[in-house]
Amino acid sequence: MIIKKNFIPLDEFINKALYNPKNGFYMKKNPFGKNGDYITSPNISILFSEMVSVWIVAFWYYLKCPKKINVVELGSGNGQMIHDMINSLKNFPKFFKSCKFYIHEKSPFLIKIQKKKLQKFNIKWIKNFKGLKKEQNIFIANEFFDALPIKQFFKIKNKWKERVVETKKNEKKFHYINCNIKKIEKKVGFKLSKNQNIIEYSPLCYEYLKDISKNLTNNKGGLLIIDYGYLEKSMQNTLMSIKNHNLIDIFKKFGDSDITFKLNFKILEKMINKLNLKSQGITTQRNFLMALGIEKRAEIISRNLPFSKKADIYYRLKRLIGKNEMGDLFKVMFVTNNKIKFKVGFNLD
Ligand SMILES: C[S@@+](CC[C@H](N)C(=O)[O-])C[C@H]1O[C@@H](n2cnc3c(N)ncnc32)[C@H](O)[C@@H]1O
Repeated sequence: MIIKKNFIPLDEFINKALYNPKNGFYMKKNPFGKNGDYITSPNISILFSEMVSVWIVAFWYYLKCPKKINVVELGSGNGQMIHDMINSLKNFPKFFKSCKFYIHEKSPFLIKIQKKKLQKFNIKWIKNFKGLKKEQNIFIANEFFDALPIKQFFKIKNKWKERVVETKKNEKKFHYINCNIKKIEKKVGFKLSKNQNIIEYSPLCYEYLKDISKNLTNNKGGLLIIDYGYLEKSMQNTLMSIKNHNLIDIFKKFGDSDITFKLNFKILEKMINKLNLKSQGITTQRNFLMALGIEKRAEIISRNLPFSKKADIYYRLKRLIGKNEMGDLFKVMFVTNNKIKFKVGFNLD
């Protein structure tokens, strides 16, 4: 494929907007929370990380309590999730004694924030997973994959065209250029274009899955994916840009707005099957958290609290599990090798 001067593929454009070392969105400020651009589940309520912690311990029991286990968080943001998980996991001393914690994070700016927040804990920051090869690892990816750059292809007059960005002058716009879809399909090992009019996929996401699959096929760990996503078989154009909690034009606020997309979990499942892994289940965030007892936990922690604090806990709980809110919009998937059968968290469907 020949790309004209001043045209760059969409994934390259997104990579620059989010991760350009000088002025990328994730490289210069803390985007989370009320004063930021968006909020993630661990920053809404501690209950989220507590439930994931209980799930981790349940999986460790299923593995027959190995004496060595790693919890590896992918893309830790402001470090809130692993902070709350470690505090929670301390309540399971046998597990805690066996467990090591790792963070894989790209942004040096966020690593600094994480190191400050997590200074009292024993955590190792890792650039890749090479050192973890022979061990059992539980990879946790909350809103990690939706932060990776994507490519998009559109079927226009029966021909596949790649969406690219013209970056000439100050005015940026989309163009659609001829492409060889078979070459891309060869890489992922299946016909991505079958019954589709749009293809939206992240080559980097596939690389991560490939890397993690090497680890999971030889070991008994798993990858827990929690992300904004959908289950329909046909792919959609879900590219979006978010600034101050609102959707904005993708070309406005370059480097100052988040650019993200919704994961198609059916395509993800096809990818992991091709990599000889299996999905233990795909469910909504609502069902996952409810199966783990989040409502009971909310009841316990709000007992004896004044009304305003109780109301706050339930308001936040509703954001996490509410239908038409994160409860339905977010999906959860657990990926392991073919020998494992572990349905905890996935049995409410
Ligand atoms: C949407 S945020 C989610 C943060 C956190 N997991 C949470 O739930 O609050 C995505 C995170 O992934 C990190 N990230 C994105 N691409 C990455 C990559 N290739 N390697 C490591 N970290 C990455 C970002 O810097 C950011 O910390």
